[in-house]
Amino acid sequence: MATVSVQNLRKVFPGEGRDVVALEDVSFEASGHTFVSIVGPSGCGKSTLLNILAGVETPTEGTADITKDGSRARVGYVFQAPRLLPWRSVMDNMLFVQAEQTDQVRERASRYLAMVGLSEQHKAWPAQLSGGMQQRVGIARAFSIEPDALLMDEPFSHLDAITARGLRRELHSMWMETKKTVLFVTHDVGEAVELSDRIVILEKGGKLRKDLSLDLPFPRDPADDKVALTKAEVLREFEELDLIAT
Ligand SMILES: Nc1ncnc2c1ncn2[C@@H]1O[C@H](COP(=O)(O)OP(=O)(O)OP(=O)(O)O)[C@@H](O)[C@H]1O
Ligand SMILES: [Mg+2]
Repeated sequence: MATVSVQNLRKVFPGEGRDVVALEDVSFEASGHTFVSIVGPSGCGKSTLLNILAGVETPTEGTADITKDGSRARVGYVFQAPRLLPWRSVMDNMLFVQAEQTDQVRERASRYLAMVGLSEQHKAWPAQLSGGMQQRVGIARAFSIEPDALLMDEPFSHLDAITARGLRRELHSMWMETKKTVLFVTHDVGEAVELSDRIVILEKGGKLRKDLSLDLPFPRDPADDKVALTKAEVLREFEELDLIAT
């Protein structure tokens, strides 16, 4: 079971003339089979938070770790853009991220490609796939390394509404099946309410504004009263953030 632990995290990027504070004293923990959405306006530090958790950036102060049984956990990262290598086939892109390429690893890669409905495309080049299909390869690839925790940075934001809805459902059923810890960055409050156990709202300047637990059964119908009320509550927080920002 993975534990995400963020303690008094601060990140400052040195700028010309003025430093940029991307994160300011952010603390939260998430453990085991949980789906946490991180929401907030553009520039509030969401990607920086994921990058620090992934080890791509370093904190200025504080700590951010993902551990399993006291050691560093295995972490999958789904980027906002699919980031497939154009000169490798779909299957080779799947295998590229694996430490070794045993039959078992190939079988696992095939299984996750099947889960996202792309078995038939395993020999295709990325350029032969639609944006949504490429994003599905990115998601299958992140799951196929069998990570303890999954970091996702607005993975559906560039897709049309229908494709995004289909992928959200796929992601939800994969999460239910594999019981990962997921940290999911999104601008889309409806998406966050549909998918999450918990929503962490960041505000401009990188401060944690609210940490909401969502005690609603899955699957969630946007037309359901409680789901709609929760969405309205999070949107109200957003409106206040806008008032603060302007
Ligand atoms: N490598 C960097 N160097 C300098 N400043 C950076 C760097 N990365 C991010 N920043 C700054 O840190 C702040 C937070 O950026 P970040 O990308 O984390 O925001 P975000 O919440 O992911 O925004 P968006 O929703 O637009 O993706 C911004 O002001 C940004 O300009
Ligand atoms: Mg971002």
